[in-house]
Amino acid sequence: MHLFLVGAGPVGLVTAVGFARLGHRVTVADIDAARIAILADGRAPIFEPGLDEAIRAESAAGRLTFTTERVPPAGSAYSIVCVGTPTGPEGPLSTGQVEAAVRLLLEAAPPEHVVVVRSTLPVEGPDRLARLVEERRALGPCATVVTNPEFMREGAGLRDFDVPSRVVTGWLHPDDREVARAVADLYAPLNAPTLVADARSVALIKLASNVFLAGKIAFANELARVCDAVGADVDLVATGVGMDDRIGRAFLTAGPGIGGSCLPEQALALPQLSARLGVPTPLIDAVSRSNVSHQQAVVTRLASLLGRPITGARIALLGLAFKAGTDDVRESPALALARELRERGASVVGYDPQAMETACRADPWLETAPDAVEAARDAHAVLVATEWGAFREIAWPAVRRVMAGDLVYDTRNVVDATAVRAAGLRVEMLGRRV
Ligand code: UDX
Repeated sequence: MHLFLVGAGPVGLVTAVGFARLGHRVTVADIDAARIAILADGRAPIFEPGLDEAIRAESAAGRLTFTTERVPPAGSAYSIVCVGTPTGPEGPLSTGQVEAAVRLLLEAAPPEHVVVVRSTLPVEGPDRLARLVEERRALGPCATVVTNPEFMREGAGLRDFDVPSRVVTGWLHPDDREVARAVADLYAPLNAPTLVADARSVALIKLASNVFLAGKIAFANELARVCDAVGADVDLVATGVGMDDRIGRAFLTAGPGIGGSCLPEQALALPQLSARLGVPTPLIDAVSRSNVSHQQAVVTRLASLLGRPITGARIALLGLAFKAGTDDVRESPALALARELRERGASVVGYDPQAMETACRADPWLETAPDAVEAARDAHAVLVATEWGAFREIAWPAVRRVMAGDLVYDTRNVVDATAVRAAGLRVEMLGRRV
């Protein structure tokens, strides 16, 4: 089958590669000509494990092509919309780009064509799309629009496409139920559980899943601070709690806070929706607040361990990406910690194996160093904020030699505590006893 995919961001590219590997021909479109040129050259414009190789292989096999054209090629059966829904002036999940893309596709595509919106929509998003379809239908028969949210994690996107937890598709009008089912069937070779429902419920499934996951992490983060206070170990507590099948261990790993382009934004979007509707949701509202207060608490803890005033202290921040395996710094807890430290009068020098460029673009004031040891030069403390495997291999004796202080505070449980201590440094972990 020939698919047209609009939006060559992380979601779009992983989806394109996923469908190409299922044997479909996929034409990927983006208005960013520079991005399309990189892709046409067989390279990924973002860091996502395995993506570069997969783009090269699928392009060579003739299943993946790239274009700046905005209308579907003749003979394509489906257009898959993967453009962003960033926070705009009207709040999180603005649908401007999605609506523009869908409007264009409705104008250009034949009536038998199906437009699949994979971008994350706010709950009122499907109503907006239904209005676009109605407007277009007033002029004559037009393509059908259905929704199909993704549940892919950055850094594990290709695997999450290949082994999805579930495939969910949504119809805007009950008459389109079978079309939504046909879209779900595109994923049939992946053997995932499937749910076809009205698009409003589907939008809420996506939103509620992410807010629930954010709530689980926020719970673990608060628990970590309780563990610090009572001398317990949050990893053991999470493991014991997670042994109950009804709870599960996933997303109970404490860290410096919740980041990325989805969870923090949606933890704000759902409370805003309920406030607009006049529905009190105190539990849901608290998730985002918990995350902000956790990040402040992490800096307070660092300050209390420092053995000198935080004002004027120099902190080496190891890890800038919002999690390991990506160069994405959107809502990165590491950068939130950097800003909080700066507000309290500390200076921060950051290092990340992948995210230096993206971090400096996001926070141009951030001082960076070319490696972990250089970041630690003259620092009073090393703060580990991203769980990169490479941080397990740091040459701690070299770090000790260049540091002004002796504290290593690891919020991700990634460093080799024995090696740190053997180098004559103090090591503290968030919620963990070492
Ligand atoms: C998320 C959802 O997981 C995915 O289903 C959705 O489609 C897109 O949003 P992603 O943004 O890639 O994926 O990040 P995720 O892996 O969920 O992590 C989010 C944040 O929570 C990161 O900052 C991560 O470090 C943190 N986290 C995650 C924890 O601190 N502890 C955990 O146990 C899990």
